[in-house]
Amino acid sequence: MKHMAKVDVLLGAQWGDEGKGKVVDTITPRYKVVARFQGGPNAGHTLIIDGKKHVLHTIPSGVFRPGIVNLVGNGVVIDPVIFMREVDALKAIGIDVKENLRIGRRAHLILPNHRTLDAASEADKGKGKIGSTLKGIGPTYMDKTGRNGLRVGDLERSDLAERYDTLKRKHERLLTLYESTGVQTTNEHEWMDAVKRLRELPLVDSEHFIDETLRAGHDVLAEGAQGTLLDIDFGTYPFVTSSNTISAGACTGLGVAPSRIGRVIGIFKAYCTRVGSGPFPTELDNDLGENIRQAGGEFGSTTGRPRRCGWLDIPALRYAVMINGITELAMTKADVLSGMAEVSLCTHYKVNGRMTDRMPYDICTDIEPIFESMVGWKDRSSIDGRLSAFIERVEQAVGVPITMVSLGPGREQMVLRETAAVH
Ligand code: GDP
Ligand code: IMO
Ligand code: MG
Repeated sequence: MKHMAKVDVLLGAQWGDEGKGKVVDTITPRYKVVARFQGGPNAGHTLIIDGKKHVLHTIPSGVFRPGIVNLVGNGVVIDPVIFMREVDALKAIGIDVKENLRIGRRAHLILPNHRTLDAASEADKGKGKIGSTLKGIGPTYMDKTGRNGLRVGDLERSDLAERYDTLKRKHERLLTLYESTGVQTTNEHEWMDAVKRLRELPLVDSEHFIDETLRAGHDVLAEGAQGTLLDIDFGTYPFVTSSNTISAGACTGLGVAPSRIGRVIGIFKAYCTRVGSGPFPTELDNDLGENIRQAGGEFGSTTGRPRRCGWLDIPALRYAVMINGITELAMTKADVLSGMAEVSLCTHYKVNGRMTDRMPYDICTDIEPIFESMVGWKDRSSIDGRLSAFIERVEQAVGVPITMVSLGPGREQMVLRETAAVH
């Protein structure tokens, strides 16, 4: 029987930065196309290849593997300036994006004033700020749903300048509301130059492109950005990003029907991190958290901000498994915890004096995490008995197999557990 090609989805099961870029790069050879379906340059996906570090913001993480086509889908928001910088960095190391990159015409463009509005909105929130990456993500998605946005396909229209001016005038009116924050418009010329170059890249109707790929019998990998708990609907609202980061987002962000989704691979760290504001029940706001930050190099790939660190949160991970329909998990950064005498994981929350293993609606209320301790593992580069016990405990608690364990940032530092089963 002919192979029924599918779109597999790989996404973050925590608050982002789980190591998605590294895992995508590792499994990319199984696929023909790697596609981003949401988010934009707020993402920073790190790949270490032959000891050299590369950080991708908008371009999918399959780009370092020859013969793979990388698609930026309709659900993504693109900042042309950052995008062309990424293209240039790839060109400098001999990767010709004209060959292996496609950009969906329905993807929305981040305008200079979207960034200005992002900064103004954050300044206006004061203490309640989201801790946004300030890349213009929220305002761009607002213009998308408000039906005002500019799309990549508009770059091919003769009235582009008029459309740009209409939106710019609207932004200028909006910015008067934030006058007191004193934020200025910048980089308009740079933006104009970048869109001219972006227009010369291969633009496609991504829904048809994916359909044709599947019909030809080739599997597609959809690469998520951010993580489940930053999802606009199911994350820790309002401390979230402005897109659907969950598996359902791959359907709307690429134009793929749910029946064509195959595996859903959730990525999680052996502990938790969060960058930006918002609730984080298992946070270690102490020396232990600082030790994990240093050992794990937990500083933002996009903004360089220190990431908040804490123990693994099982109720949150179970929630991610449920919402995304995760069929298998990949655990990263197990090496970072090696050498600790004891590691903990949160199995339940105590909310208003009652034990629960569910994510409550209002995660901002007082949540007391209930921890379980396990003996730590010593080995950094292989799975010893202690680490096996930790892995099996997580599998048992969340109900899906952990098929991959990452023990370092490099491409080759990955152990496949093909025989993984739920205990
Ligand atoms: P992403 O946004 O999910 O792609 O993750 P980031 O790239 O923002 O952050 C993950 C960081 O951890 C990067 O610096 C990776 O190089 C690094 N990393 C990924 N997997 C591992 C691992 O198993 N061990 C260690 N020590 N570092 C890892
Ligand atoms: P990757 O794909 C971690 C966080 C920001 C902020 C909130 C909203 O690398 O995992 P936004 O810029 O979207 O308005 O910020 O979301 N955030 C991320 N945190 N990893 C990311 O992406 C993130 N993208 C956004 O820190 O708290
Ligand atoms: Mg990241």
